[in-house]
Amino acid sequence: MTAPEDSRTAAPECRREAALKKKYARHWEDDFSVDWDVTEYVSRREFTRFLGLSSAGMALGTTMIAAAASLKNDEPEEAPRVRLGRVADFPLGASKAFEYPRKGLYALLVRHEDGTFSAYSQKCPHLGCAVYYEHEKNVLECPCHEGFFNVKTGDVISGPPQRGLSVVQLEVTTDEVWAVGGGGH
Ligand code: FES
Repeated sequence: MTAPEDSRTAAPECRREAALKKKYARHWEDDFSVDWDVTEYVSRREFTRFLGLSSAGMALGTTMIAAAASLKNDEPEEAPRVRLGRVADFPLGASKAFEYPRKGLYALLVRHEDGTFSAYSQKCPHLGCAVYYEHEKNVLECPCHEGFFNVKTGDVISGPPQRGLSVVQLEVTTDEVWAVGGGGH
């Protein structure tokens, strides 16, 4: 049978433990000391208010951008009139690429064997490659995945495209050819 622990032997243990705690507490304070008198203290309330104001500002900015974009989209975009050339400049079976409806977007004008004209956006509706006029087969062809389009209507004949080419409206006077609308991508 063991005797109960003597209070005289327990006391030094407690004292050592207390000393260690004190030592480590001070060590921590030395490493991460904060002088409250000189530190710019940000209270939780101030921080929350800052977050709230930032969020409100961002929400307001987003709303204004969305409103501006929707106003812009409501405005009907005016189709430009672009002179493509004189009728006599295009022999039967000829084709010509031109920028329409704006710079950097290309369209293709084709003069058919019967003397009429058609024009389409050159961008394939599948993955955006440029279509060209294949005179031998009298079709518009996309070389990327062998998409074929009717040269008179722009409709899909075969291949992966799910829809036809975007038609550019033309105005043909007695001696001039103009692009007057359509052709967007
Ligand atoms: S990009 Fe034209 S067929 Fe695929």
